[in-house]
Amino acid sequence: MNVRGKLVVVSGASSGIGASLARALGARGARVVLLARRKEKLEAVAADVEKAGGEAHIIPVDLSDMEAASAAGKAILELGTPDVVVNNAGAGEWRYVDETEPAEVVSMMALPYFASFWLTRAVIEPMMARGSGLVLMVNSPAWMMGWSGSTGYACARAAQHQFAESLREDMRGTGIVVSEVTLGEVSSDYFKTQAASHERLPSIANSLIGVITPEQAGDYIVHAIEKERERVMGPFMVGALYRLDRWFPYLVRPFIRATQHKR
Ligand SMILES: NC(=O)c1ccc[n+]([C@@H]2O[C@H](COP(=O)([O-])OP(=O)(O)OC[C@H]3O[C@@H](n4cnc5c(N)ncnc54)[C@H](OP(=O)(O)O)[C@@H]3O)[C@@H](O)[C@H]2O)c1
Repeated sequence: MNVRGKLVVVSGASSGIGASLARALGARGARVVLLARRKEKLEAVAADVEKAGGEAHIIPVDLSDMEAASAAGKAILELGTPDVVVNNAGAGEWRYVDETEPAEVVSMMALPYFASFWLTRAVIEPMMARGSGLVLMVNSPAWMMGWSGSTGYACARAAQHQFAESLREDMRGTGIVVSEVTLGEVSSDYFKTQAASHERLPSIANSLIGVITPEQAGDYIVHAIEKERERVMGPFMVGALYRLDRWFPYLVRPFIRATQHKR
């Protein structure tokens, strides 16, 4: 899909991957709708989008709130039927089950999974009626298997993954493409505010997979949109690890166990 003049919704657009993606879309002449809670950050990214040649609209919203997410969907539809919806907003920490309060796991599921569902649900019917468009989930390799210290985090990513897989089946024959972009560690602010979570990332994340910038992450997402790819993994070693684990789990799992966080 050529995004020039297209209405592209990006959740979590106030920083990191979402902000870089919004700027890249702006440079391609898209009409970008930016969603997140921090209004002043959204305004700054919107200015960048317009400077780059795109059109920008901001909708400050807490996507962990179902009513607010649905209202944001209505505000989007006032701008038009989206051509692309990028479900990128995410939060969550790496914690062991005994460190996680029962109520905290609800907030971990709220972002990314519930927010992705609510936002997509709010705009999907007009997209289906038009018979075209693309819905994209941004995800982490945490969805691929079990990891220590991630009973909330990895489960929310697995839910986000299965949402992409199941939505894709629902959308067969409608003209809507469902895409998932799974990224290794990205040097955004995500882990800067969560030093404890960063320490718990399996050490293969840095040693084998490597760290990419938010701009590189944005490029992977632009590629998925432009080529209408159903599954994109980056950098290369994320996809390699996924395939190796599918074919040789008895080799990969012990390796993961040996390199994951221990307490
Ligand atoms: N960083 C990584 O290593 C990595 C790797 C793979 C995948 N990912 C995924 O990529 C996505 C973006 O992460 P990032 O690295 O760019 O981190 P980030 O810079 O912390 O961005 C997270 C974005 O989500 C928004 N957000 C968080 N809670 C929200 C809420 N309740 N309502 C609305 N928006 C909310 C934040 O905006 P406000 O705070 O303004 O609301 C921000 O724009 C996440 O889903 C993350 O899981 C990250």
